[in-house]
Amino acid sequence: MKKQILTPRRSITTEIETLLNQQIDMEGKSSAYYLSMASWCDTQGYVNSASFLYKHSEEERQHMLKLFGYINDAGGHALQPEIIGIKHKFKTLKEVFESILDHELEVTKSINNIVDHCFKIKDFTTFQFLQWYVTEQREEETLARRAVELFDIIGEEGIGLWTIDQEIGKLDGFAAESGPDNLDENN
Ligand code: FEO
Repeated sequence: MKKQILTPRRSITTEIETLLNQQIDMEGKSSAYYLSMASWCDTQGYVNSASFLYKHSEEERQHMLKLFGYINDAGGHALQPEIIGIKHKFKTLKEVFESILDHELEVTKSINNIVDHCFKIKDFTTFQFLQWYVTEQREEETLARRAVELFDIIGEEGIGLWTIDQEIGKLDGFAAESGPDNLDENN
């Protein structure tokens, strides 16, 4: 690989800038994806799932903006991603949450690839910046996994789906109780 030179005008290589812009694209799509899911849940009467997803859509936008700030502060140029091809309709509520789990696992893979690259080229500042995303991804994977498990534990028959929707509404509380920030406070 050709060695990239840093100049006084920039603290990240163009390669890292490209990787971080790809991550912006992923976070932007996550936000749009969850917004679309939230809207579908709303139309189906899954009001708690809708509220959970509206909030998560906003969180994904914040993940994206955090990357904008980092890239531009480092002398790069953060790019607004093209967002097309978002799915609007889903067969079931379970499909929504299974898709979220799959998607979050992909996001984790992407973050890990960038972290790995930063370590290899000794970009320890970006490496450290990305640790927040590493921790956040574990939390988001756990949350999505808990949601998917509800379908097996409760079952979808009778008032099952209504109950699952209620329980999904409580998952944010679960995240707050088990999240990394809370562990810090307790230790
Ligand atoms: Fe910010 Fe859930 O990826």
